[in-house]
Amino acid sequence: NYIRTKKYEGKLYVSLIPGNIKDHLEKIDSMEVREDDTFILSYPKSGTHWVFTIASMLRTGKSTYIGSPQFLDYNDVEVLDKLPSPRLFASHMTFDRLPRQVREGKGKVFVVSRNPKDVAVSLYTFLLKLNQADFSGSWEGFLRFYMEGKMLYGSWFQTLFDWEETEATYKGDNVMYLVYEDMKQDLLSNVNKMASFLGVTYDQSFLEEVTDRCTFKTMVKTIIDEIKPQDQEFIHRMSDEKKLPIYRKGEVGDWKNHFTVAQNEVFDKLYQEKMRNSKCKFRFE
Ligand code: A3P
Repeated sequence: NYIRTKKYEGKLYVSLIPGNIKDHLEKIDSMEVREDDTFILSYPKSGTHWVFTIASMLRTGKSTYIGSPQFLDYNDVEVLDKLPSPRLFASHMTFDRLPRQVREGKGKVFVVSRNPKDVAVSLYTFLLKLNQADFSGSWEGFLRFYMEGKMLYGSWFQTLFDWEETEATYKGDNVMYLVYEDMKQDLLSNVNKMASFLGVTYDQSFLEEVTDRCTFKTMVKTIIDEIKPQDQEFIHRMSDEKKLPIYRKGEVGDWKNHFTVAQNEVFDKLYQEKMRNSKCKFRFE
């Protein structure tokens, strides 16, 4: 079940994991990594699928949609081992849980983050739509748990701090940090930066085509018609809605339609307190 979690060494993991967590994490740790593997890491609802779609186009050189990423968190490592290159994986886990070879510099890692108010709204509305989640809580209650970090994959703040620590201590050059709001502001320059980071070279016209194909509007309109039938099945299992429940509004600032004035004040107070020592500044509109 997507929303149920298992705790291991103080961290929460989604309970879809095959077998026990310790075994699964050990298998990921010793996974054989390929030079052209790409890993997309995020706190849920931060734009994982968006970055995945762009990265997949840059890796394959084709501007076609290929569905959803394979999650390290709950797929059988034996199955992931056999996937053809170029492989793209996603995960909501922290850096120390990635394959050892990645932490030694092999493959490429994109880390994407997004302001925590829009993440809260996106996660709440997603869980309501998800068949597997069996979730029907109120927004008020959800927000309380979210602020306390009692969520699948724990606290938004803690995840950000874990990444800040990785950024400060990890010496490898195979990690690139992306911000949802920056991508919304200027997608083409982010696509350009992503291509350089991956070490792939294309004509500017291809990078512009990728950018056009990865705007929210185009993705919502076309993605469902173009992705493979097995992915369509996956989408329908996820939700009764026709469109992928992942692609909802794709905006910065939709939190204003959900947070009451009082909720916003409480959240801002928590944000100020928690982010005291953080260098990250998020845009909320
Ligand atoms: P909203 O629910 O606010 O619309 P994830 O892939 O990490 O689950 O993130 C999902 C969020 O990313 C959703 O946010 C979704 O709409 C947004 N998203 C997906 N593709 C996008 C795109 N091309 N442009 C902007 N936002 C996008």
